Amino acid sequence: ETVATFLNASREEILGTKGTTESINIVAQCVARERLQPGDEVLIGTSEHHANIVPWQQACAATGATLKVIPLRDDCSLDQDAFAQLLSERTKIFAIGHASNALGTLNPVKEMVARAKAAGAITLIDGAQAVAHFPVDVQDLDVDFYAFSGHKLFGPTGIGVLYGRRELLEAMPPYQTGGEMIETVSFEASTWNQLPYKFEAGTPNIAGAIGLATAIEWLNHQDRPALAVHEDALLARATERAHACDSLKIIGTATSKVSVLS
Ligand SMILES: Cc1ncc(COP(=O)(O)O)c(C=O)c1O
Repeated sequence: ETVATFLNASREEILGTKGTTESINIVAQCVARERLQPGDEVLIGTSEHHANIVPWQQACAATGATLKVIPLRDDCSLDQDAFAQLLSERTKIFAIGHASNALGTLNPVKEMVARAKAAGAITLIDGAQAVAHFPVDVQDLDVDFYAFSGHKLFGPTGIGVLYGRRELLEAMPPYQTGGEMIETVSFEASTWNQLPYKFEAGTPNIAGAIGLATAIEWLNHQDRPALAVHEDALLARATERAHACDSLKIIGTATSKVSVLS
């Protein structure tokens, strides 16, 4: 419930996972592998974390679909003209990082998700590097899936979140099977529990969930606009000092960045 409020989602749409990696794998296994066919495409960005590359690569290898990658401009922002050209009715899945862990670039995810949805794609945002820096509203983003990890949000490791739109979660097959995720079991057949339990097979990470909720409650009590101003000031100061140093080259100079300096 704490996470649902944090993301402006409903409780049934919030799945407890091990972290962003598992969250993306759930979508790659239960949506991509179910729906992709030869000729279909999955579209991602060049600056994705490996967790938002390899699961799609594997889903494409298993289905005959093709992985397409949006190139970067010189400042390491995503090339929006290339995005427009790569997007087509063949694009069945669009998965993009909200903020790049390598470059700090803040991607215009809301606009990109809207364009990808208009082309008919299922959309996912990797929010691992976003949620700690600014409020995220999945209704406003109008995205199908949103993933993040507890340990990048001042919480524990081994706990993370997958937000999924209810209709999609209802239609998806389970990721793992066993206890907790079932409604009825017989030796002939079993039926699945309601959301979110259908995707939470086995005894969950109870301590991690309590730790994550506590971290979110702590963050909710901070002055988040003031934190953002402070982070921006630190980044601006570090960038200025790094620029003054002849032997350093800054990689990633997009105008819209979170506080990462490579
Ligand atoms: C942008 C991004 N995506 C995904 C991940 C993977 O997160 P986890 O290792 O918690 O699953 C990370 C971790 O560094 C990340 O920065």
